[in-house]
Amino acid sequence: MPLAVDSVSVRFGGVLAVNEASLAAAAGHVTGLIGPNGAGKTTLFNVVSGMIAPTSGRVTLGGEDITRLPTHRRARGGIARTFQRLELFSSLSVFENVQVAAEIARRAAPRRVAGELLERVGISHVADVAAGDLPTGTARLLEVARALATEPQVLLLDEPASGLGHEESSRLGALLRQLAAEAIAVLLVEHDVELVMEICDRLFVLDLGRIIASGPPAEVREHPAVIDAYLGAG
Ligand SMILES: Nc1ncnc2c1ncn2[C@@H]1O[C@H](COP(=O)(O)OP(=O)(O)O)[C@@H](O)[C@H]1O
Ligand SMILES: [Mg+2]
Repeated sequence: MPLAVDSVSVRFGGVLAVNEASLAAAAGHVTGLIGPNGAGKTTLFNVVSGMIAPTSGRVTLGGEDITRLPTHRRARGGIARTFQRLELFSSLSVFENVQVAAEIARRAAPRRVAGELLERVGISHVADVAAGDLPTGTARLLEVARALATEPQVLLLDEPASGLGHEESSRLGALLRQLAAEAIAVLLVEHDVELVMEICDRLFVLDLGRIIASGPPAEVREHPAVIDAYLGAG
């Protein structure tokens, strides 16, 4: 299994943000992580990418324990992510943002990589625009291009479709399926239930820090606890 989270807990003072959560993301699959606001999804991503250390539990990549590896070592090991609150270089152009990511990842031809990735996510037409001037939806696609510049084995996406129009969303969905077909393990946090149900092979549902259900989307959407905690309101 490329990525496995094994009984991870995260405590922030009095708040148990993640409570013995376990999940796995397989190569070739799009795995969804859903749940209400405050469930602990972003915190779990922060644990996987190494931005925070779990209070207990472990994270493995290809069977190797990476729980205590620093962020940059995980990135080199093949974990890339996008951020719910965008983390772009706002004064650099769209093209330069991807080029810099490719340079940091020591790709052989960073300019060529940047050109190809902008084409791939469908934002070549804004290559010269400063990233800080982009509408949110386009900036999210740029974050995906930047993550791909590192040639990840595991790609973590934190609400990539928020701010995207319907057409952009379905193009993003198609792209994520293609990435899975290239043997990347895609782990997706997303509130757009329609998109999640359509493109995920498997879902994990987080509520108040706990995984309350997992399985194929069609099963998970019928799960009473999931309907109560999350889907019922929608
Ligand atoms: N750095 C932090 N310090 C204290 N509490 C935090 C911190 N980050 C998140 N939390 C709390 O942890 C819980 C889970 O938050 P988060 O992981 O952002 O949820 P989600 O992404 O599912 O909306 C929330 O109660 C949130 O307030
Ligand atoms: Mg979040």
